[in-house]
Amino acid sequence: MTELLKAEHLSKNFGGLKALSDINITVFDNEIFGIIGPNGAGKTTLFNNITGFDIPSEGKVYLEGKDMTEKNVTLFCKEGIARTFQNIRVFSQMTVLGNVLVGMHKNMTSSMLQTILRTPSQRREEREAYDKAHEVLKILGIDNVADKLANCLPYGTQRKVEIARALISRPKVLLLDEPTAGMNPQETDDLMHLIAKIRDLNITVIVIEHNIKFMLNLCNRIAVLNFGQLLALDVPEKVKVNPEVIKAYIGEGEE
Ligand SMILES: Nc1ncnc2c1ncn2[C@@H]1O[C@H](COP(=O)(O)OP(=O)(O)OP(=O)(O)O)[C@@H](O)[C@H]1O
Ligand SMILES: [Mg+2]
Repeated sequence: MTELLKAEHLSKNFGGLKALSDINITVFDNEIFGIIGPNGAGKTTLFNNITGFDIPSEGKVYLEGKDMTEKNVTLFCKEGIARTFQNIRVFSQMTVLGNVLVGMHKNMTSSMLQTILRTPSQRREEREAYDKAHEVLKILGIDNVADKLANCLPYGTQRKVEIARALISRPKVLLLDEPTAGMNPQETDDLMHLIAKIRDLNITVIVIEHNIKFMLNLCNRIAVLNFGQLLALDVPEKVKVNPEVIKAYIGEGEE
C-alpha cells in the first residue's frame, strides 16, 4: 500500500470556531475512503483543506509524500486531485458533453493561435478530447444524453455529469462530497456500483456521505468526524460497532 494523500495535525479555524482540530489521516493508493459525521462536523472543510480550496490554519497536507500545504487548487489539479461539490455545480446551459470537456482543460496543450488556425495538431487534440469525454460518459452510463442541455436532466444524472467532468482529467484521487444527495434509492445503488468501478480504474476515491448503509457497504475504511475532531478511523465493521460513533452519529438500533 502506497501513501497517497495525507493530512498531518491539520486544524482549521474560522474566527473563534475550530472547524477542524488536529486531524491525522492517511489515504492509501486504490482504496475507497469514507468520511462521515453529523452536519457541521467539518467534512467539507476537510475536503477544502486537502484539495487546495482552502489553506489549513495549522498542519500539513502531503500528496505522494510531496508537501502540498498552501499550494493552490491549480497545483492540486496538476498533481492529480479532482473533486465534486456538495452543491451541484454544472453549467446548466451547456450540453453534457460540453460540461465534461471543461474538465479536460488542464490536459490541453494547444495555444490560442493554434486553436484559431485550427492546425492539425489542434484538431487531433480536440478529437482525442471528444473521444475521452464519450469514454467517460460511457463509464458513467450517460453517453446517451451527451448532447442534452445539463439543466434538462434529472438531478441524479446531473450529479453523474459532475463526476464525469472530474474523471476526464484521469485523476489519481477523486473526492466526492455527498454524491447521492437528492438521489432516489435506485440511483444511490447505481452510484455505489459506479464508485466501485471507478476505483477499479486505479483511482482512489474519498467520499463524504450521510447514507450510512451506503458507506458501510462501499468503503474500505471510514473516518468519523464530530465537532471538528477525528472520532474514529477504521474498517466499516469496527466503525459500526464503535460506541462513541454510535452515540455521536449512527444512533442506537440503526445500521
Ligand atoms: N467559510 C466558512 N466561514 C465560517 N465558518 C465556516 C466556513 N465553512 C464552514 N464553516 C463552519 O465550520 C463548521 C464545519 O462546516 P462543514 O461545512 O465543514 O461541515 P460538514 O461536516 O460538511 O456539514 P454538512 O454535513 O452539513 O455538509 C460549521 O460549523 C460551519 O458553519
Ligand atoms: Mg458538507
